[in-house]
Amino acid sequence: MNPRSLLTSSASRRLLRPIADLIDQRIDRRLRAAAAADAAAREEQRETAETVKRQQLTLDLLLGSPGRGLSRIVSPGPLNRLQSEVAELAGDRDAALRNIATAYRLLIGLESLGVGRIAGGTMNICGKLGTIPLLDPPNDEILEIGTLYGMFSAGLIRMMERDGRSPRVTIVDPFAGVQLQPGTPRRPDPSGAPVDELAVRTNLALAGPAGVAARIRRGFSEDPETRAAVSDRRYGVIVVDGDHSAEGVAEDLRWAEEIVAPGGIVVLDDFGDPKWPGIEQALDEHLTGDTRFTYLGKASLSAFLRAA
Ligand SMILES: C[S@@+](CC[C@H](N)C(=O)[O-])C[C@H]1O[C@@H](n2cnc3c(N)ncnc32)[C@H](O)[C@@H]1O
Repeated sequence: MNPRSLLTSSASRRLLRPIADLIDQRIDRRLRAAAAADAAAREEQRETAETVKRQQLTLDLLLGSPGRGLSRIVSPGPLNRLQSEVAELAGDRDAALRNIATAYRLLIGLESLGVGRIAGGTMNICGKLGTIPLLDPPNDEILEIGTLYGMFSAGLIRMMERDGRSPRVTIVDPFAGVQLQPGTPRRPDPSGAPVDELAVRTNLALAGPAGVAARIRRGFSEDPETRAAVSDRRYGVIVVDGDHSAEGVAEDLRWAEEIVAPGGIVVLDDFGDPKWPGIEQALDEHLTGDTRFTYLGKASLSAFLRAA
């Protein structure tokens, strides 16, 4: 008898059936176990996707654009670029990284508690807040031209105090109920809050005693009465963020020449922003004339100048 017929004979089949049944049962068990493992893996994936969705939703509520116009979620490219720019301006990479992180947390904290928002992109705000103390202004007098909700000044007070300084803030803004910009339609702010002095006071109070003590002058920075009211001192820091037209910026830069302290820092906001070409144009023209200012560099969309 050949080996093949030995295996296929009916006697052999009868004899081998229990073994074949056993093998079938094992295969069946394995197939069921694999199907169960597949189902468990799919369920785990579904739960992970649900968790990620919930986390994303929570993060969006905390950091997303609704209520402030722009998202505060950070991307690695712009963050690395900002760190290099601030490090270049400050001459200290570790301090730059520390200040940007600190400024970011402060920005989120202020916008969570305050009325309104800080204007502009996250990197630009963190760049300004982080860099100013590192440039070691010659005194603690700060002038902000154009404040919107006063929240940036509140942040700057906190950043300066973290650096051991005792900031005294002066603010000039028309408080027109909405943000005023020549050539731009008046429309409600994305935060829904009115641009008024009450909001500014509330936000400054978040910065403690120095915020409460801030001097607020309602008016346009080019008005002689406004200028006369706040030109009583030499400022260590001037933030130019009011009228964004070329002529408006030129006016503010000319005024800043007169009231900035020797060694003082002038920050020109939205510099290089394609939405506001007049800002770069005004600075370029200003720097070709007789000026006390030296251009130090930029961080995100802010130019930094030092007065002689
Ligand atoms: C871009 S917002 C300021 C944002 C604020 N510095 C911040 O960081 O959140 C410009 C502000 O300047 C005000 N403004 C417009 N023209 C001005 C002028 N000629 N003098 C002073 N403020 C002016 C606007 O009404 C607005 O409140």
